[in-house]
Amino acid sequence: MQDITLHITDREGVEHNIQAPTDMNMNLMEVIRSYELAPEGTIGICGGMAMCASCQCYIESDHDLPEQNYDEEAMLAEAFHVKENSRLGCQLFISDALHELKLTLAPEE
Ligand code: FES
Repeated sequence: MQDITLHITDREGVEHNIQAPTDMNMNLMEVIRSYELAPEGTIGICGGMAMCASCQCYIESDHDLPEQNYDEEAMLAEAFHVKENSRLGCQLFISDALHELKLTLAPEE
């Protein structure tokens, strides 16, 4: 499979069904930026280093995701609006395992 489908609800509550490539080594934050689902400057501020939480999202489907690494865990321990299902989009790489993933962007901090 080359493209997977993602269901992303933006910060205005609008749901977008988008296609993301699995063969470009992109993470979820980069996909969200490339579709301009959040205004420039409000997402991906640290460039994907797990240091800003601007890419935080709430995972709403029952996918088996990779465990959080130390940096993601540490960032989410400090961020605002964190819920049980929070993840950093920049730490989730697009792969077949994410097909049909459903998520909502967390509010801006
Ligand atoms: S882009 Fe900064 S934590 Fe993900």
